[in-house]
Amino acid sequence: MLTYLRMARVRNWWSNSRAVVPIWVISAILFYSLLQLALRNSSSDKPISNQEQRSRLYDKMSRDLDEHGAAFLKHGETSQSLSLSDLFTIKDGSVTPNLKAAIPPVRANVLYLSPQYSIPISKAVRSIFLPHFDKMIWFQNSTMYHFSMFHASHHITPVPATEEEIEAEANAVKAVAEGLCPLKFYSPQLNKSYPNSMASASWIHFLQVVSGMDPITIRAKLRPVLPRAPEKQLYDAAILHTSFARLLGQPNASLEEADKTSELQFFHDLVTQLNNQIHGFQATVTELWYVEELDVLALALDGRMKVHKFQLGCSKT
Ligand SMILES: *[C@@H]1O[C@H](CO)[C@@H](O)[C@H](O)[C@H]1NC(C)=O
Ligand SMILES: *[C@@H]1O[C@H](CO)[C@@H](O)[C@H](O)[C@H]1NC(C)=O
Ligand SMILES: *[C@@H]1O[C@H](CO)[C@@H](O)[C@H](O)[C@H]1NC(C)=O
Repeated sequence: MLTYLRMARVRNWWSNSRAVVPIWVISAILFYSLLQLALRNSSSDKPISNQEQRSRLYDKMSRDLDEHGAAFLKHGETSQSLSLSDLFTIKDGSVTPNLKAAIPPVRANVLYLSPQYSIPISKAVRSIFLPHFDKMIWFQNSTMYHFSMFHASHHITPVPATEEEIEAEANAVKAVAEGLCPLKFYSPQLNKSYPNSMASASWIHFLQVVSGMDPITIRAKLRPVLPRAPEKQLYDAAILHTSFARLLGQPNASLEEADKTSELQFFHDLVTQLNNQIHGFQATVTELWYVEELDVLALALDGRMKVHKFQLGCSKT
């Protein structure tokens, strides 16, 4: 009975929501990770300017959040401008991804976060978000946590490739991986007196890099070996982010009558809880993957993919 009621409520909400504007369908919640490069890093990096570039980016993001509220949560789009209703079916209270063949397959280069590190994060995310979102949430598979670096082909600008070309690309990426040092980072406690971007956009989860190469450097090394790659990439070069979960509906306690401020506050609070659970957490990324995503967003939705795994070869950390 209880189950039935809940399902009815979900179904009811889901069908109503399509008509209601602004729709409270929420797009991917992305936890952008702030990298602060230690000054002692490799000389090919330009720590100051990279750091400045990131600061500006995060400042802008937090201004957007505070000025426009969680606008990005309402458009029902993912960071890759795919509509959530196309991506998921919610039926009988369960969420199923709609897998669709990617033609041509998307070819993504991602830094891989191994389960040793991703499982504790995943547990924290699940325990904090699930009670509030019931079934209206899709959790990233914890064995597939990744940071997108560079696309050799993406769905906005598809770049078809033959098998030989794919093999050549994978080999080129392997050579880059061999020259990269493992990224070591930790997640600091959210500190209200940190720069603006940290405090005001508190659902943004920040990581600090202790050692290894800056994402800007990694992307800069990948671009020349993948000369046919789309000029316009999906993410800002400075950013390091991973999706932990995609929110598909409003939280269980209706925020209908609530204003923008409490909407924001609600997410701030959830992410503060998350930060409290995982601060101090340390991780090392040691693998760069060249992934052929045979389904749209295969990495995110447990679709079909071919993974070429490369160890980061530089032993200096
Ligand atoms: C909504 O989530 C809260 C937080 O865990 C929970 O205590 C409450 O029972 C939930 N409400 C409903 C109606 O499911
Ligand atoms: C998560 O990913 C792993 C590795 O690809 C796979 O074996 C597993 O079935 C996935 N889990 C789910 C729930 O799809
Ligand atoms: C918070 O950040 C400020 C400024 O960087 C620093 O002085 C202070 O020690 C930090 N507090 C904690 C608890 O980390």
